[in-house]
Amino acid sequence: MTASVPLCRLDEIPADGALSVHVDSATGGFDLILMREGERVVAYHNECPHQGRRLDYAPGRFLVRDQHITCAVHGATFRSGDGYCVSGPCCGSSLATVAVHVSDGLVYAR
Ligand code: FES
Repeated sequence: MTASVPLCRLDEIPADGALSVHVDSATGGFDLILMREGERVVAYHNECPHQGRRLDYAPGRFLVRDQHITCAVHGATFRSGDGYCVSGPCCGSSLATVAVHVSDGLVYAR
């Protein structure tokens, strides 16, 4: 992962939703879920701590409501701000975070 390559533009992340981005790596890469609260962006691996499945119900389509994201497989629900699971089969666990930062309207992995 190269720090100088932006993941996306800040305005591509819906204010009330999530954006999926693929990060290339020597081993094939991985997918991230990007969510925003104003100018703040949080990123999580698109992998549910329950059974390691993707959270989206279709590629890049997420169940987001009231600042929470719900895994489409068995319904675990995570707070968007910190990825903590507040209900469902893996309650008390968290999504794996990836550090990102915003500069000049672009989102970068650290
Ligand atoms: S894999 Fe996400 S809730 Fe089961």
